[in-house]
Amino acid sequence: MILVTGATGNAGGALVRTLAGSGAEVRALVRREVELPAELALGDLNDPDSVAGALGGVRGVFLLSGYDRMAETLAAIARAGVEHVVLLSASSAEAADLSNPISKYHVESEALVRESGVPWTILRPRTFMSNTLRWADQLKSGNVVRDSFPDVAVATVDPLDIAAVAAASLTGKGHDGQVYGLTGPEALRPADRLRILGAVLGRELRFEGFTDEEARARMLEQMPEAYAEAFMGFFSRGELDESAVLPTVEQVTGRPPRTFEQWAAANAEAFA
Ligand SMILES: NC(=O)c1ccc[n+]([C@@H]2O[C@H](COP(=O)([O-])OP(=O)(O)OC[C@H]3O[C@@H](n4cnc5c(N)ncnc54)[C@H](OP(=O)(O)O)[C@@H]3O)[C@@H](O)[C@H]2O)c1
Repeated sequence: MILVTGATGNAGGALVRTLAGSGAEVRALVRREVELPAELALGDLNDPDSVAGALGGVRGVFLLSGYDRMAETLAAIARAGVEHVVLLSASSAEAADLSNPISKYHVESEALVRESGVPWTILRPRTFMSNTLRWADQLKSGNVVRDSFPDVAVATVDPLDIAAVAAASLTGKGHDGQVYGLTGPEALRPADRLRILGAVLGRELRFEGFTDEEARARMLEQMPEAYAEAFMGFFSRGELDESAVLPTVEQVTGRPPRTFEQWAAANAEAFA
């Protein structure tokens, strides 16, 4: 049995479907009743006791980064005899700048997993292709997309590839102690992604970049100031470079990473 946290999200959801599709037994830790191809366990990642209650018969755990009392959660995972934990971290753990709160929570989560005594694999995906779903409202009402950091090229990764690497790590051999940086096959700026999405949708779309001040103001509406500043550091001040294409997805799964065009085609109805 594999326990998947974040099972209603982009990465965890893709992992639940991938594991279920391959016939593995899957349990999803969820905060409310939902339809998933998995057994459900109600729980909250900020409540280690609720995670402990979901661990019966579990040999592998897919764990999200950055929740409260994670040391207690990992102690419960170790006590339950779990054989492997896959942590969903991020590339910002590589920056290792502990004054950046996003890097900090990933670095600290990684350290706790390494110290847990449970065999582990750490995934450091670049920005997810699924973040493009944030454009859906703009594209339902027009052909212009406005977004932040227009000059930043990122080798975005399809959550299906994160899931494929996580599934291989949880069910195969040779992944203990590995740190996998995960990217797609090409670095694209937002306008490049919009052009590809437009071609898939058969629509002429136009991109307009926010200035840094507009980007900051928009993020302040959506997240605490410290996180908005963290993203400004990453993508405006260039403290995080996610443009390099890495071979990891292909090395682990035996096939090339999925392209943004494939992601767009699979998710086209979200923008209609
Ligand atoms: N998006 C990116 O570009 C990116 C890049 C690198 C790393 N990451 C990492 O990947 C993680 C997941 O990204 P995503 O796009 O899959 O996120 P997402 O789609 O927003 O999913 C987040 C998941 O976490 C669950 N969750 C939130 N708070 C919880 C809690 N207290 N207890 C249990 N479950 C909780 C949510 O469940 P509910 O349905 O109950 O809300 C949901 O299933 C991020 O949090 C980040 O650490 C993301």
